[in-house]
Amino acid sequence: MAEAKAKQELPEDVGSDDCLTSYTYIYSPDLLKDQVAFITGGGSGIGLRIAEVFMRHGCDTVIASRNLDKLKEAAKKLCAASGRRCLPVCIDVRQPESIVAAVDETIKQFGHIDILINNAAGNFICPASALSFNAFRTVMEIDTMGTFNTSKVVYEKWFKDHGGNIVNISATLAYRGQALQVHAGSAKAANDAMTKHLAVEWGPNGVRVNAVAPGPISGTEGFRRLGGSHMEATESFRSIPLQRAGNKTEMAHCTLFLASRASSYMTGAIMVADGGAWLTSANDVSMLLGIASSKSARL
Ligand code: NAP
Ligand code: COA
Repeated sequence: MAEAKAKQELPEDVGSDDCLTSYTYIYSPDLLKDQVAFITGGGSGIGLRIAEVFMRHGCDTVIASRNLDKLKEAAKKLCAASGRRCLPVCIDVRQPESIVAAVDETIKQFGHIDILINNAAGNFICPASALSFNAFRTVMEIDTMGTFNTSKVVYEKWFKDHGGNIVNISATLAYRGQALQVHAGSAKAANDAMTKHLAVEWGPNGVRVNAVAPGPISGTEGFRRLGGSHMEATESFRSIPLQRAGNKTEMAHCTLFLASRASSYMTGAIMVADGGAWLTSANDVSMLLGIASSKSARL
């Protein structure tokens, strides 16, 4: 078994919000040459690695979220690692006017937008009965309204007339009704529906809309909040067919595939990239209740 595990060839990753110290190309290095990608939540976690991998493939990026200081620091690192341009912009995906200003600025600075990655999200573990009305609404507004708001603004301002590629970062939470995740599971399920609706409506305008649904991804806020460290410590990942957590570079590679001409005949697809986790992982209410009541869970 250990030998089989060693045979899995994993791409490089680092656990922090830093760029890779080395990178081995799988795709052609000019796959996204001179394209521009607008990435929500691109200043941390999976979004930051997507930005880096895209830039290493010749793309310029806009990284957009609420914390401008964090974005500026990330942009500096990304430019240094890739030699491409990265524009940090402050938006709240719940506020359409902030997205409009950021998209206008993107077109002013770069002249076009080719790719939109809807990656911004908020989550925490909480039993449905303890979830306040505002907590449920907040996650729905960030994940679902945020994805619609950003897609609509980018479509109206650029994709409608020029085509483009949208990739939504989803989750597998709703597939089995994951415990303590009614807010995020409902939001991502709505996003999966949105992926298909917009693929159908915008396909004739040359817009493809697809999604990546990650499993537990190490070195991320999501992993930290949703019990990843506990699962690692208790060897719970052994129940996953691939027997490990995923890494951020693996998610970036799936996203690159869907955002590029490598997937030119795909639209309306949800690509599950979870090592088979949702098929076999325990949906363990009491374990998650234990994590939720621990001091680190309320963030
Ligand atoms: P993360 O680093 O916390 O990424 C979330 C990003 O969203 C942050 O950069 C945050 O930046 C931004 N954001 C949050 N609220 C926002 C708002 N209202 N407006 C604009 N930006 C906002 O966490 P992550 O774990 O990498 O998650 C990235 C994506 O992967 C999410 O869609 C998540 O649901 C999905 N996912 C992750 C895992 C996992 O194991 N990590 C598993 C399944 C799915 P600011 O704070 O600066 O706004
Ligand atoms: N458990 C239960 N409820 C929680 C909670 C938790 N851990 N964290 C926040 N809430 C509730 C708040 O109490 C509030 O409800 P109330 O007004 O009824 O008290 C509601 O959620 C909104 O919280 P607030 O902090 O005002 O929202 P925000 O817009 O500032 O932040 C969050 C949004 C809550 C999602 C915040 O965690 C966040 O910014 N997350 C981004 C990063 C992230 O989640 N990454 C992982 C992605 S998988």
